[in-house]
Amino acid sequence: MQWKSLVAAVLIAPFANALIRFPCSQLVTERSDPLVTPGEVAPHLHQIVGGNAFNFTMDPNFLDPAKASTCTTCRFAEDKSNYWTAVLYFKHPNGSYIRVPQMANHNTGPGIQAGGMTIYYFQPTPPTKNLDVTAFAPGFRMIVGHPMRRADDIPTASPEYRSTSYRCFDTNDPGNSGVPGFPGDSFHLPNKPCAEGIRSNIYFPQCWDGVNLDSPDHSSHVAFPEGPASAGLQIFGTDCPASHPVRLPLLFIEINWDTRPFNDVSLWPKDGTQPFVFSMGDPTGFGQHADYLFGWEGDSLQRAMEVCTGGDGIPWNCPVLTTQDMETMNNCRQPNKVAEVVEDEYIQRLPGCNPLQEGPVSATLHPNDCGAQTTWLAAPTPVTAPPAVVTPPWPVCYDGPNPASNPLAPLCDSKPTKANSAPVVTPAPL
Ligand SMILES: *[C@@H]1O[C@H](CO)[C@@H](O)[C@H](O)[C@H]1NC(C)=O
Ligand SMILES: *[C@@H]1O[C@H](CO)[C@@H](O)[C@H](O)[C@H]1NC(C)=O
Repeated sequence: MQWKSLVAAVLIAPFANALIRFPCSQLVTERSDPLVTPGEVAPHLHQIVGGNAFNFTMDPNFLDPAKASTCTTCRFAEDKSNYWTAVLYFKHPNGSYIRVPQMANHNTGPGIQAGGMTIYYFQPTPPTKNLDVTAFAPGFRMIVGHPMRRADDIPTASPEYRSTSYRCFDTNDPGNSGVPGFPGDSFHLPNKPCAEGIRSNIYFPQCWDGVNLDSPDHSSHVAFPEGPASAGLQIFGTDCPASHPVRLPLLFIEINWDTRPFNDVSLWPKDGTQPFVFSMGDPTGFGQHADYLFGWEGDSLQRAMEVCTGGDGIPWNCPVLTTQDMETMNNCRQPNKVAEVVEDEYIQRLPGCNPLQEGPVSATLHPNDCGAQTTWLAAPTPVTAPPAVVTPPWPVCYDGPNPASNPLAPLCDSKPTKANSAPVVTPAPL
């Protein structure tokens, strides 16, 4: 068995971590961004997971996703939050683009999620002084990362330095099993084929000013912790700055990109660069970013942070929350309301007409010069076909006799059942 995810790394780390960890499958992929461009079609494409109240406008004065959502794509039924990130495309040598499928992470079963992400909420750990964790408040939202960034320009001593990174899964099992963002991972998209895919690792800031639910740039009301920067810290066990003294759960996201169909190097650029680009026209990976819009029901997240300190991250070991099976998660979906092709087919221009901007200077917003849609459909065609589900190259649960050889692995026959573990479909190589 291979244990390549963060929970494996933190168990062997010299400090104990407590966390909840769970899969969320894809709700919709659409040019929508209610934080940055509310009420508009967004300039680039996002994949969105979480509650189905997601919309082009999500004004907290009028919409509480915890109440307005009738389902969620996340394992915990209480989590009606939305999480979204840019998506990855493969650029074919003929200049066309096709979306890179996403696949389930290690230890996210039973059942295999359709696209989406793995979400972690970590409680603070010593040696930080502020060990009291305060869950996000209704209306809270934030962004990490910079879509226009195209260079490795964050100072290495900055706590933000490790906030977004990539893991290249090779066949050298278990590969790099270190803490994400530390040596072995890269801050740019991997520059070689990754036999088992690429994982995005995204840490959000974990310190809050205690006052503002949002800010004009959607990030200055939160901050990364500061020191001590020794012993590989800056992520765990570090202190919040005086300007942002309230300790939030450390929200961390992993996304597994199934690059296996695109590893034929004869289809790679001849100049030594790699062929994957983010939807905002970023071939570097430095522009990776993620948005969070809090939507947990009532005080459910706060209770989970106080009670669920077991450290294995297995959802049903957190008794104060309600788990749902993968079929229920996968069936909570929204139609794409912007009438354009975003996945499964080669396209000539990235959605929204974004050209590739290679840096190192920051990218600029490109005019809509290819007739991209600027409005959405009031009555989109409802989604009826089952979602495409990719079989990952690793197990998602432990199917052997009790007890599991690894305490982090959920048993395949644990609730909420493995009924929908099969059949699954792996797309043919393109
Ligand atoms: C999104 O907002 C529009 C306009 O307010 C509304 O008609 C629609 O029902 C909303 N969609 C969802 C999924 O809530
Ligand atoms: C590029 O190649 C793909 C895969 O064969 C094909 O589907 C697409 O139509 C091609 N694009 C152009 C512009 O020829």
